[in-house]
Amino acid sequence: MGKDVIVACDFAGAARTFDFLDRFTGRKPYVKIGMELYYAEGPSIVREIKRRGHRIFLDLKLHDIPNTVKKAMAVLSALDVDIINLHAAGTTAMMEAALEGVTRADGTRPKLIAVTQLTSTDQAAMERDLLIEKPLEEVVLHYALTAKNAGLDGVVCSPLEAGRVHEVCGDRFLTVTPGVRFSDSAVGDQKRVTTPARAKELGSDYIVVGRPITEAADPVAAYERCLSEFLD
Ligand code: C5P
Repeated sequence: MGKDVIVACDFAGAARTFDFLDRFTGRKPYVKIGMELYYAEGPSIVREIKRRGHRIFLDLKLHDIPNTVKKAMAVLSALDVDIINLHAAGTTAMMEAALEGVTRADGTRPKLIAVTQLTSTDQAAMERDLLIEKPLEEVVLHYALTAKNAGLDGVVCSPLEAGRVHEVCGDRFLTVTPGVRFSDSAVGDQKRVTTPARAKELGSDYIVVGRPITEAADPVAAYERCLSEFLD
């Protein structure tokens, strides 16, 4: 399992996305496609980025009844993406159905990972709105273990949680971690951030980095800095 930097391509449309990706003439970054870009452009954007030789994390965070998620996963799996995700809150039945749906006729499938609690959810909101009164970290670890027991490959979590997730779910269970900033760059709306070097120490398998690369004056240099801090 290779560690890597995944670039969050949070652009509103295809033109901006390709302007950005065209700058990378050497190593082709692993790309995250989220809801904004996917809903704007549909499956064609996934096919085109794949055709250009990028690996893809399709971040659509599915959450619905098991049968619906199973069928949607089968459609998305046909796009030949590398990682795809859902909400662990959909429960074991939904995750098991998703795993079935995402598995192709030849037995291959993208890695399937789960969102535990969104990093935008804090203890107060979880208690008030979701009536979950356990400590947030315990909830995250419980959701991670439930995802593992359902057969999933990993979770999206904070780099600060990566070590505990590995302790509870094992080293081979993937931690895909957003919330990464260079020590000298703007934090923006992220709250609990770490540097690529710290994420490496904490055991993240993949870091997801958006604005520190997409909004840099020199995105290719920022990407390469991320790679060297995280991988070397
Ligand atoms: O620009 P930035 O580096 O903050 O981008 C982080 C990316 O990771 C965004 O696409 C954001 O939606 C995503 N993400 C996150 N926190 C989560 C799940 C996904 O920041 N818990």
